[in-house]
Amino acid sequence: MLQTARIFPSRLFVRSCIPGSRRLISGVSSGLSDQLEILGVRYPTDAITNVTPAILSKLSLRLHTQHAHPLNTLRSLIESHYPDFAHLSSLSPLVTPYKNFDELSFPKDHPGRAVTDSYYLNKDLMLRTHTSAHEVEVFRRGETKWLLTADVYRRDEIDGSHYPVFHQMEGARIFSADASGMKECEENNAWLAQQLAMSNIVIEDVPHISPTNPVQPTHDPRYSELVARNLKLSLNTLMLKLFGGVAGSNSQNPLRVRWIEAYFPFTSPSFEVEVYFQGEWLEILGCGVVRQATLDTAGVSNKIGWAFGLGLERIAMILYSIPDIRLFWSTDPRFLSQFEHGKITTFRPYSKYPSCFKDVSFWSPKDKPLHENDFCDLVRDVAGDLVEDVQKIDNFVHPKTGRTSMCFRINYRSMDRSLSNDEVNGIQSQVVSRLKDKMGVEIR
Ligand code: DAH
Repeated sequence: MLQTARIFPSRLFVRSCIPGSRRLISGVSSGLSDQLEILGVRYPTDAITNVTPAILSKLSLRLHTQHAHPLNTLRSLIESHYPDFAHLSSLSPLVTPYKNFDELSFPKDHPGRAVTDSYYLNKDLMLRTHTSAHEVEVFRRGETKWLLTADVYRRDEIDGSHYPVFHQMEGARIFSADASGMKECEENNAWLAQQLAMSNIVIEDVPHISPTNPVQPTHDPRYSELVARNLKLSLNTLMLKLFGGVAGSNSQNPLRVRWIEAYFPFTSPSFEVEVYFQGEWLEILGCGVVRQATLDTAGVSNKIGWAFGLGLERIAMILYSIPDIRLFWSTDPRFLSQFEHGKITTFRPYSKYPSCFKDVSFWSPKDKPLHENDFCDLVRDVAGDLVEDVQKIDNFVHPKTGRTSMCFRINYRSMDRSLSNDEVNGIQSQVVSRLKDKMGVEIR
């Protein structure tokens, strides 16, 4: 599963909390076990607190603003496609669950809310899981065309394309929902269509307005149609700017982009954009016509518009040929010194160090099988970026006792150096003792 696949959570379970997470937190707080210090401010913890020191250490890094970092260059490139939009990039990652979910019409039982999927400081505060969390606030400020870049946080499995912190860019444009707004929209559509007509791009886009992806009842269908067309034209030209070079735009090989029907709680109709690259269709972003409830909450009910959200790592991995998502966090000069701000260049791998696999098998606590994301967070917290990959290789329920047994295989590999056996054994034994002490498992 690649980065943007995470914008469509499919897991449908909800668990209550990670055993022992409060004790874990007290290690990084100011010594008060029921408080947590983040960027100089103290917050109370509670039964659902599940942020770890490894995650909190990322909050101040803001890779999308680091000089010459590929994520920063990609951000600038996208911003240059929208020169007359407001460009925002310094909003705090701490948001209320209300802002992250409710304000955007997420149902109460949406899986993204679960503590297994998202990071909570306490029941009232979390790390944003997507840049859409800021839509209402930015619209409320009166911005009508804007881009917002930010670090976002999700609990997930560990592999070469998943990291619990990644970067997204949100874009939006709203028009007056009247004849003058639609005139502005139509003029912009004509101009964008002209740009595309001169380019080497093939767009697959069938009419998508199905009963499950409808025009909103409060919208004039002609207005919704014009806005959706503006969204599509604007993103098709962006895809051309980003991928026109790499995807081999020549007369035999035009850039291929396709539009697929999608569902998001805060847009209707909603779409996904895919780009054909090296023999595969890759999901690049999600988007749609903004739900009127969002604009009403923001106090701009007289507007109609679109929004999109994309994952920067996913696109940067393609454009720079970066093979492992951990590299974005590398402080090794062999990584960073390769890049120049504003230029996309092919990453030159400096070496591949050997892997070291370690397995751990255990019985989960009786009525609470350990969640894979809890396991991954624990490993990430102990091993940091020395863990490349975690796979669950066995899972069974004992027919008599009803207990669940699991076996995970951890692949340790540094991106910068060879790891010694002793070092890996030391890390693995810390993983094992934390599993016993904090998760209450019985090692087999
Ligand atoms: N926020 C979504 C996600 O991360 C992506 C997205 C979809 C953003 C549709 C949008 C949108 O603005 O209209 O899963």
